[in-house]
Amino acid sequence: MESQRAGAVLGTADVVILGAGPAGLVLGNILRTAGIDCVILERAARAELHTRARAGFLAANTVRILDRHGLADGLRRHGQQHGTCEFRTDSGRFRLDYGSLGRRERHTVYPQQDLVADLLARYEGAGGRILFASEALAVTDADTDRTRPSVSVRAEDGRPGRWQGRYVAGCDGRHGAARRSLPPGAVRRHHLDLGVSWLGLLAEAPPSLDAIGYAVHARGFAGHMARTAEVTRYYLQCARGTAAGDRSDEWIWDELELRMRAAEHGPLHRGRFLQRMVIDLESDVLEPLRHGSLLLAGDAASLLSPSAAKGANLAVLEAELLADALIAALRHGSTGGLDGYSARCLAHVRQAQRFSQWMTRLLHGLPHAPGRGEPLSPYHEPLQKRPCLDTLRTSPAEQDWFAEQYVGI
Ligand code: APR
Repeated sequence: MESQRAGAVLGTADVVILGAGPAGLVLGNILRTAGIDCVILERAARAELHTRARAGFLAANTVRILDRHGLADGLRRHGQQHGTCEFRTDSGRFRLDYGSLGRRERHTVYPQQDLVADLLARYEGAGGRILFASEALAVTDADTDRTRPSVSVRAEDGRPGRWQGRYVAGCDGRHGAARRSLPPGAVRRHHLDLGVSWLGLLAEAPPSLDAIGYAVHARGFAGHMARTAEVTRYYLQCARGTAAGDRSDEWIWDELELRMRAAEHGPLHRGRFLQRMVIDLESDVLEPLRHGSLLLAGDAASLLSPSAAKGANLAVLEAELLADALIAALRHGSTGGLDGYSARCLAHVRQAQRFSQWMTRLLHGLPHAPGRGEPLSPYHEPLQKRPCLDTLRTSPAEQDWFAEQYVGI
């Protein structure tokens, strides 16, 4: 670790943020607006950030948070409201207008790369500092408040160096430097492999349904989510170990149509696949989300399976909670928010995880979380509930509960 303290001091900031995804950029914008001196270190080149298609399914509370901080102009102008799910099974299809149930809230569909572009423009427009192609290698001296933490960095020109701060915010995802820098035993890791894999596809084709489509089929799950008027996200359950390029486009479209019962409900609009990736459904939550002056948010803190599209929504929520806590500490010397940050986040994470795992079992006909056969830990045991599509189809109470959990964060 000594070597990682080496290198010239490239700069200092009150808060050094690792990662320019939803978590890092929302955090950076809120801190900038509050006049807090921060810098974002982002491994990727600027161009890559604008092209990386990720999530895009924003909960009502996420929109409220972004609105509260003046970060929602783009999604207000171009986002599409979605409030209906269509489930397709052997016993037919049923539509659930969740936007008129529960709290009567809808999702806003707005491609994440567009949200990231909006957040970046706003952050830089306000004079925010961000360094692209600057990979954080390790965080050191974060253990106690007596030392200022350092982030060793491989800068764009390849030179080693380090940034010093009062706090470091690890928003660099599940495999980033923040998690890697946590000393052994500093946190507990609650990892659960749900034993299911999806082939995630981005098709250059208009949506085929006017709803979020979930098909439960003997051959496996298939999902349909509009992204824009010209691009649609599909998911196809696949065997663990499948490679993204294993199947031809034609085989994939035929399999999607088979599982979504196109013969009964109409064909899918086909097009070329802009992106393919295999996703193993798992959750990976740390507890606590803080180690000294290093704090984690987003996927670095609490990765959930994509079944209920909670990831980006949790990232925005955690970023706002962390920003509030850091502002109180740096502006007013009040560290209560930082002391309570982890517990506040984890209460939301567990609620989101409970529903996300329920949804995974609902869509894959799993009675429980199979994992790799490992026994469920005391952390995961309470999250299990055997779901049933027929109950969802027939019970108004279950539908209200679904609507509240599905859009809630
Ligand atoms: N140094 C600097 N930047 C890094 C490093 C590193 N060592 N490692 C990763 N990064 C950057 C990535 O390039 C990425 O831009 O950190 C950023 C992490 O962004 P996301 O993966 O989007 O994570 P987060 O902001 O937590 O958002 C989480 O958003 O991507 C969606 O649904 C997805 O659940 C996910 C949610």
